[in-house]
Amino acid sequence: ASETVTELLDRLSVVVPDYPQPGISFKDLTPVFADPTGLRRIVDEIVAPFAGDFDVVAGLEARGFVLAAAGAYATGTGMVTVRKKGKLPREVHSEDYSLEYGTATLELHRDDVAPGTRVLILDDVLATGGTVGSAVRLFERAGCTVAGIGVVLELAGLGGRERLAGYRVHALQKV
Ligand code: PRP
Repeated sequence: ASETVTELLDRLSVVVPDYPQPGISFKDLTPVFADPTGLRRIVDEIVAPFAGDFDVVAGLEARGFVLAAAGAYATGTGMVTVRKKGKLPREVHSEDYSLEYGTATLELHRDDVAPGTRVLILDDVLATGGTVGSAVRLFERAGCTVAGIGVVLELAGLGGRERLAGYRVHALQKV
């Protein structure tokens, strides 16, 4: 019998209690990335619904890079890095987003994507949607179309999906 992606994630991920703060259970995906079947399966499943609809795969620092590089390689597309403030050396678009305490900023090299490019945005986790929302704004400012958003885990009840209303959001597992 073949294992579902939910079964695979439950088997390989490790739940860490009280991380990063007391009362929070953190679902650690590094063992999924480290497993040959796990990596291939999550990458194949995260891009599958968007097959043929995107020209480039964008990864959000840091864990989104793992998925996006593999997803781009698997689909014969390129990979674009969306980075935290101050890491990219040339001209950037910048978009702020709010964190629980304060704000953060994501950046995109202005010339890494041409206007009209269809972008698939990948990240490990969708929580409040602040991070992905900021990435969406970056690509739209660059004249791109957001073809879709793929995440491994969607943390339900934090408003991420609502914040991304109107976009195609695909999560491998809702927790
Ligand atoms: C985590 C996660 C997502 C984001 C989701 O990244 O990897 O990118 O939070 O949260 P949100 O939907 O509420 O924005 P983090 O900011 O911890 O960065 P890292 O991947 O570099 O550790």
